[in-house]
Amino acid sequence: MKVRSVQHEMLPETTVDDRSRQAAVVSLRRLLNTQVRPRNVELYEREGRPAWERRHGRAPETAEEIRAAFFESRRYRFWSATHRAAQEMIWIAAGEPVFRDLERLEATAERLASSPERRGGLELAPAGYVPPGEVADVDIHLQPGGYAMTRSARDVACGALYENGGNVFAFGQGLGKADSKAGAVIRHLEGARPGLKPRRILDLGCSAGGAACHYAAYYPDAEVHAVDIGEAMLRYAHARAESLDVRVFFHQMNAADLRFRDGEFDLVVSHNLLHEIGRDNRRAMMREAFRVCEPGGLVVHQDVPTRFEPTPVRQVERAWDTRFNGEAHWSTYSGDDLLADMGAAGFPPEALEETRLDKVAGPGGWYLVLGRKPG
Ligand SMILES: C[S@@+](CC[C@H](N)C(=O)[O-])C[C@H]1O[C@@H](n2cnc3c(N)ncnc32)[C@H](O)[C@@H]1O
Repeated sequence: MKVRSVQHEMLPETTVDDRSRQAAVVSLRRLLNTQVRPRNVELYEREGRPAWERRHGRAPETAEEIRAAFFESRRYRFWSATHRAAQEMIWIAAGEPVFRDLERLEATAERLASSPERRGGLELAPAGYVPPGEVADVDIHLQPGGYAMTRSARDVACGALYENGGNVFAFGQGLGKADSKAGAVIRHLEGARPGLKPRRILDLGCSAGGAACHYAAYYPDAEVHAVDIGEAMLRYAHARAESLDVRVFFHQMNAADLRFRDGEFDLVVSHNLLHEIGRDNRRAMMREAFRVCEPGGLVVHQDVPTRFEPTPVRQVERAWDTRFNGEAHWSTYSGDDLLADMGAAGFPPEALEETRLDKVAGPGGWYLVLGRKPG
């Protein structure tokens, strides 16, 4: 079974045992996601809600009550515990080869970053920078150490964990030069604005650089910059981009407080950042994206489609991650009026678009909110 989509020098060596364990986790997660989870709402209706109603003498009303009613179903509790365990197994399966091969990965990163042939760059934050604790202090989707984990001045483990965990999580369709989120956004932009050729692109919340590398490969004449909060994540992302031979300039920065000048970019994007950043920083990030976008330029935020869940029961079912998968900001992302937030960031209503994007490959889709800066 395929457990990664793109090969490059920053991937750890894996043994037959590693690959077998990763394939087993992929199989378990596929089974849970396709055969078990789709029945959760039915379990709620048949078992959870009636049990809750017997206990309380009325129907559950609030999100908290609906959540409690789900847990009245023993079979739902079994799914929840198994789903959590499978998520933890991702990090064991991805982490063992990363830590076993870390010395080589760190040396490779140093070589790529100092090579005279390097194409991009890495700028760390000035002294005194503290990554935002609302993200740095939480093991979001249970990644050990979280997004900002940095244990030495050579460390790349955080980025390696992110990419390799993501590959197992996404059934082998994880990060790559052909990252599907960036691909879906580019397809949408080309449909709406044929001939679009951005010159300066900024990717906010880039993690290991999957999307940023896709933009750099797709628009080879553009200068691509990418921002995230953690040093080891970005050191990995930079080395990975060099290994893929694409030009990306990575910066350690809070997306809610950018060190770029007004109007520096004609395309500002974020991929899966909206649901992983707290509300106040999300709004500040949207204002910053507007500020650094040039007049006439585009700001595009893509994210998970949980905002389209049609009923409160389905919304609560999707919000499992908030409590059990370290996704601290998932529920505020899903419930907030993001068009209003984009308006408050500076975009007039007629310059805004909110839509659902199809994935490039496979079923399902993404949420997208797009603003065109007047001028
Ligand atoms: C789910 S990851 C998305 C990664 C990448 N864009 C992708 O699509 O694969 C969210 C990223 O946003 C970053 N992030 C969260 N809050 C941030 C902030 N205030 N400034 C910059 N990056 C932030 C996290 O560190 C994490 O790497």
